[in-house]
Amino acid sequence: MKVLVTGGCGFIGSHLVDRLILIGHDVVVLDNLSTGKKENLDKAAKFINGDVRNQPDVNKAAKDCKVIFHLAAIADVQAGEDAVFQTNFIGSANVFKCAEKNKAKTIFTSSAAVYADGKLPCNEDDTCKPVSQYGKSKLKAENLLKKQSDYFILRLFNVYGPRGYGVANRFCGKIPEYKDITIFGNGLQTRDFVFVNDVVDALLLGADNNGIYNAGTGKETSLLQLVDIIHNISKAKPSVKFLPEKKGEIKRSKADISKIKKLGWKPKFSLEEGVLSVLNSSGFLPR
Ligand SMILES: NC(=O)c1ccc[n+]([C@@H]2O[C@H](COP(=O)([O-])OP(=O)(O)OC[C@H]3O[C@@H](n4cnc5c(N)ncnc54)[C@H](O)[C@@H]3O)[C@@H](O)[C@H]2O)c1
Repeated sequence: MKVLVTGGCGFIGSHLVDRLILIGHDVVVLDNLSTGKKENLDKAAKFINGDVRNQPDVNKAAKDCKVIFHLAAIADVQAGEDAVFQTNFIGSANVFKCAEKNKAKTIFTSSAAVYADGKLPCNEDDTCKPVSQYGKSKLKAENLLKKQSDYFILRLFNVYGPRGYGVANRFCGKIPEYKDITIFGNGLQTRDFVFVNDVVDALLLGADNNGIYNAGTGKETSLLQLVDIIHNISKAKPSVKFLPEKKGEIKRSKADISKIKKLGWKPKFSLEEGVLSVLNSSGFLPR
């Protein structure tokens, strides 16, 4: 089947493309390479250097595609308001419009950032009260997509894995050179870390299912616990440096994954296995 992946040169998108090609799909990628890299992309995918903010680019890339995985976004919670709105909302609106016209199924990567900071675990039926512009733009795009009859929205928690750039990747990245790990705040803030291969499994469910689903592990891990896990696996002991906490960052995060489990999905990778995979991919050799 011919499928489109927007943002396919990025972290999660490139893993999704690898899997789609492996299982025999004909994959088109639309990416403006703002954060993604061409070298992330499997050579078997057809690459279109274009922008989701530009409707003709989207229409060209989506031609004859039966499924559209829409991942292109500015994923930085600290990014400027207008840039985030233009890409994450206007760009998404262009993709959804095109999908509706072509009768293609849309699978959209939303985020845990749509939830309010407070009640745990985050459940899909909770009232959403995003704190960041990023979270607001994702929720606005979700609400637009929900007007269509056929959609699959995956609210991703903290995704990590080879080629990633989030906090788990950043901490692991310090290990090969035995550099300081920097924690903003006291390290007691928690996240729900989900391995990228598990996220790809969840995205693939979108072709045959509808609705909004969380993709996390249902486990809360503090940054201090994460550092311990990385130390235990690597046997490397870089020092930890503490800096003042960043404004707008949530204190705790944990997904309720009971809904997506009913589709037969559950995370296969423990945090220890995922960390080992990240360390291996960065060529870490214990001293
Ligand atoms: N990584 C996470 O922990 C996480 C958590 C929640 C949600 N998400 C969502 O998952 C998706 C993928 O995230 P990621 O971590 O792979 O980020 P990423 O930055 O690695 O990937 C985003 C890709 O989109 C491309 N892109 C950005 N703006 C574009 C535009 N205007 N037109 C075309 N392409 C554009 C980038 O070049 C990049 O290749 C995003 O929608 C993000 O919001 C990620």
